[in-house]
Amino acid sequence: MDDTVSNRLNQLEQKFAAMGQDMASYLEGLLQADYLTYWNYIHLETLLSLQNPKTAYPDELIFVTYHQITELYFKLVLHEIRQIAEASPLTAEFFTARMQRVNQYFQLLEDSFSIMVTGMEREQFLKFRMALLPSSGFQSVQFREIEIVSTDFRNLLIAPPEEPSFIDDLYEFLYWKQGATELATQQKTLTLRQFDQHYKPRLVRLGESFESKNLYHRYQQFSQGSQAPNELIATLREYDWRVNVRWKLAHLRSAVQYLHKEPEAIKATGGTNWQAYLPPMQQQRVFFPSLWSAEELQNWGQSLHQPAPRC
Ligand code: HEM
Repeated sequence: MDDTVSNRLNQLEQKFAAMGQDMASYLEGLLQADYLTYWNYIHLETLLSLQNPKTAYPDELIFVTYHQITELYFKLVLHEIRQIAEASPLTAEFFTARMQRVNQYFQLLEDSFSIMVTGMEREQFLKFRMALLPSSGFQSVQFREIEIVSTDFRNLLIAPPEEPSFIDDLYEFLYWKQGATELATQQKTLTLRQFDQHYKPRLVRLGESFESKNLYHRYQQFSQGSQAPNELIATLREYDWRVNVRWKLAHLRSAVQYLHKEPEAIKATGGTNWQAYLPPMQQQRVFFPSLWSAEELQNWGQSLHQPAPRC
């Protein structure tokens, strides 16, 4: 028998012996097992069965598929952030490398947003969207999870109580509650009410479990006592800007492209206050406030240009 094979068999024997397992049975399993195929590995048939437009307008396939692509990237973003949250010990190299991946994902999402902005016929969009009400990307729970694992819960709130409070109580002060008001009635939209009913417990639990391991907290722990490396600071600033300015502006462009009308007209079709809510300049969401100067914070969301590295 070839030396390499006999070495591998020895290693396997040790591995199974350590767990009290019989190697021969596992070798028999290998003999019976089928070869892995690409389509089984990535569940291609299942994946391609998940795009189910609700209307016959051809461009709806683009809409549903692009949302799914975005959600898969959101999944990868959360995967990287969870690794940073759990790393022990957390090194600057690991933190930076994982944040660079996350920044790449957001850059890709921003660049590809043109598929939404110019890649569908407006006439088709305005028809098929009526069959999708009251659902909205606003209900993307992964986007909210990305926000919660990135910063202190309080940085996501508007006018919260001053005294220490439980996350369960603070949930009502989340900034995005402001973004789902019906123009006609000034009531909270069904979109928001359904989302809260479905996801509030999950998001509160996430907020609680990330109180002392969200990205901002990990950065602060990391930089205690010594100055964090400039490269880490730069990747965190880039992330903040990519999510809270660049992605939001790319998204806003698609809303303007398809939905821009005078407020009176929007009221008439059951629209929301998105024109006042979506611009990042209005939202002023910042994950890592101490990494920005007072001037940068004051001008938040006004420029597309990447902020200069901090000295
Ligand atoms: C033609 C494409 C799109 C249009 C016209 C559009 C429109 C809107 C509007 C009007 C809102 C405000 C809430 C509402 O009134 O429903 C919103 C929120 C939102 N949408 Fe989209 N959207 C588009 C594509 C997407 C895509 C591809 C995603 C990816 C998941 C997405 C995710 C979100 C998120 C996360 C929010 C909440 C943003 C925030 O709170 O700042 N949207 N969208």
